[in-house]
Amino acid sequence: MRIAVFSTKPYDRTYLTATNERMGSPHQLTFYEPRLTPQTAALAEGHDTVCVFVNDEVHAETLATVAEHGVRLVLTRSAGFNHIDVPRARELGMEVARVPAYSPYAVAEHAVALLLALNRKLHRAYSRVRDQNFSLAGLEGFDVHNKTLGVVGTGTIGTVFTRLMRGFHCEVLAYDPYPNDEIVRLRGTYVDLDELVSRSQIVSLHCPLTADTHHLFDADRFAEMPQGALLVNTSRGGLVDASAAVDALRSGHLGGLAIDVYEEEADLFFEDRSEQIITDDTFARLLSFPNVLITSHQAFFTREALENIADTTLANASAFETGEGELHRVA
Ligand code: NAI
Repeated sequence: MRIAVFSTKPYDRTYLTATNERMGSPHQLTFYEPRLTPQTAALAEGHDTVCVFVNDEVHAETLATVAEHGVRLVLTRSAGFNHIDVPRARELGMEVARVPAYSPYAVAEHAVALLLALNRKLHRAYSRVRDQNFSLAGLEGFDVHNKTLGVVGTGTIGTVFTRLMRGFHCEVLAYDPYPNDEIVRLRGTYVDLDELVSRSQIVSLHCPLTADTHHLFDADRFAEMPQGALLVNTSRGGLVDASAAVDALRSGHLGGLAIDVYEEEADLFFEDRSEQIITDDTFARLLSFPNVLITSHQAFFTREALENIADTTLANASAFETGEGELHRVA
């Protein structure tokens, strides 16, 4: 297939090219650095497939343009697909495919890393020691051992995260509309979301962003959390009302926030903006808190995950083209 790859970073080019060559080069890949948006959609001309990532804007206007240029397939190099208007794509006769599970370990391990770093203030200790400041003031954390941990969303990643955290002997409370036996086997207990939030000293989010989960953590939810609790979000930024998080941090009620995702990340993440003024006041305020740790959507970023993303993405293209092999359609 003739695939226009948007939001290309050097690692996308490396892994997709290597996979395509290993497959015998069945696909023609054109790499574009810009995101796919209504403004860049015309770059799809001459291609039958667009290949996108999490901050591309694959909404009605974009889809209409790429459809006009003959695109029949949208491949996302991600598990989440909230950046794609899937019903509209189908109305326009396009198929949409994703990478359902490329490495739950990558994301779950990053969530553990964020939690431990936030709790033990490693982000502050690192720069302090480099400045030859060996004071421990303000670096106190708590034992994760025996704490109550709330896991919201117990699908692939939430389950791996739970398994890892059981090593700390946490009491695991879980919330998911579709409970999973593996969590019960790991001695997790399903409760409703209110109970999870009000009892957990640590909450980690692993559910998708949908209309139902948008701002799942808002001012009311933060107020329900125990004083000093920590929140970790490696799922999607829109799950958390960032302004409400700022208020909860400023009041001291929320003990710390570690995020790999941010609702307005599309204009920030994946680029070097060190020479720029950040105009998003909420994000700038979050950066100013000592008890906020932010990474820029890197939870997926392991060698194994990148290989799997490239393999499944191009296998999806081949399955669409030949009708053979598994096409991971967005349901
Ligand atoms: P999954 O589909 O295996 O699991 C999601 C779970 O959330 C399912 O069990 C589902 O029943 C549950 N769920 C749905 N609605 C819910 C609600 N209202 N409350 C609680 N749970 C709900 O997905 P997977 O692979 O575990 O990924 C989870 C999320 O992680 C993705 O949706 C994606 O947004 C995010 N992600 C982030 C990455 C990163 O680099 N930061 C990389 C990959 C995924």
